[in-house]
Amino acid sequence: MRKRNLVVAIDGPAGAGKSTVAQLAAKKLEYTYIDTGAMYRAVAWRSLRAGAPLTDEKILRALEDIDVLLSYEDGKTRVFVNGEDVTKEIRTPEVSAVVSRVAAMGEVRAKLVELQRKMAVHGAVLMDGRDIATNVLPNADVKIFLTASIEERAARRWKELKEKGYDTSFEEVKSDIAKRDKADSEREISPLVQAEDAELLDTTGMTIEEVVAAILKRCE
Ligand code: DC
Repeated sequence: MRKRNLVVAIDGPAGAGKSTVAQLAAKKLEYTYIDTGAMYRAVAWRSLRAGAPLTDEKILRALEDIDVLLSYEDGKTRVFVNGEDVTKEIRTPEVSAVVSRVAAMGEVRAKLVELQRKMAVHGAVLMDGRDIATNVLPNADVKIFLTASIEERAARRWKELKEKGYDTSFEEVKSDIAKRDKADSEREISPLVQAEDAELLDTTGMTIEEVVAAILKRCE
């Protein structure tokens, strides 16, 4: 069902289900899917390799010669940092705990945003993140702000972490998400905010299939 080579921007807070539904929608549209959060996570993961405590210097050093590659095949994204497959490693609670700080740095954003714009030049792309509609691709053809109640977002993340074998409580996950939302929404550079021309899609109580269908409808 390949449509015209549209540029689709999806933004929203943590745990809104952006990557799950965006990957499925991209597959249906036969578009490339770009998970920009994974790119910030890749920088955070590399910064943590220098050992604790995390400092701005370590982040800048990790950024210097970083090569972030996203491969999207069969509806699945794999993330490579300088040739190393870090798809799983970038999703740990340790990376989640520091990624907002890494993403707040101007140098990090400048480098990754430039890369993201290059990835979208040919269209037929669905990109998700926090500042796609407002900053990375302000001329996107379709702009969606995807959200859900904090309880539902925390429940989804908690289930995901439990399935991966992490022993965390629901309250802990909820508090982490709330903290990250606050940091992402209040930072100075390109904070998380719904673009004026973006359509709000509240997925509370919706199934994955229903959300994918709603996105595809907006691309028609
Ligand atoms: O979507 P995610 O949870 O994997 O994103 C990880 C972090 O990266 C998130 O806390 C905010 C940041 N981020 C950002 O600042 N800008 C983007 N376009 C995407 C993610």
